[in-house]
Amino acid sequence: MNIKIIYETYSSSTETVSGLIAKQLTELGHSVDVSRMQDSMNFINQNYDLVIFATPSWFDRGQEGQPHMAFLHFMDDHTNTDFTSLKCSFVGLGDSSYAHFCLAIDILEDFFTKRGAHKLGETLKLDNFYFNPDEETVKLNKWIEQLPIQ
Ligand SMILES: Cc1cc2nc3c(=O)[nH]c(=O)nc-3n(C[C@H](O)[C@H](O)[C@H](O)COP(=O)(O)O)c2cc1C
Repeated sequence: MNIKIIYETYSSSTETVSGLIAKQLTELGHSVDVSRMQDSMNFINQNYDLVIFATPSWFDRGQEGQPHMAFLHFMDDHTNTDFTSLKCSFVGLGDSSYAHFCLAIDILEDFFTKRGAHKLGETLKLDNFYFNPDEETVKLNKWIEQLPIQ
């Protein structure tokens, strides 16, 4: 499969996780391209078999649990876009001590699926990846296994 991983990060964990996903999927024989949301604004025209979105939850626009600012800008610009040709999966990074654990990835999922995108597999939510990389990488590897991409 031709797979794109689109991520954003404030303090680097989502970049690390995106790299781990890319490595695993490449080893499984897929062609994988990774880039930040701010550098991927025209991904919809590039006909990927699967796009994986990854974002931390953060405080933005006066609210907790928001997607990274680059995703917020993308969403602002695409309120009327049809995503029915898009197959996508979702990876959220957060911290369960916050009131809205990984809410940002639910917001992104909602945004794309309400506009016709087809979700593949379960949504992954990683807790405090920076402090628990080993435990959360086990979850990440299980998540990759359940993706319907063979
Ligand atoms: C200002 C701030 C606000 C945050 N808000 C939330 C939140 O509402 N929900 C949540 O699950 N995690 C929240 N987090 C935790 C981050 O999402 C988590 O540390 C994540 O791994 C950061 O990813 P990054 O290193 O890729 O930026 C917040 C962290 C900070 C510093």
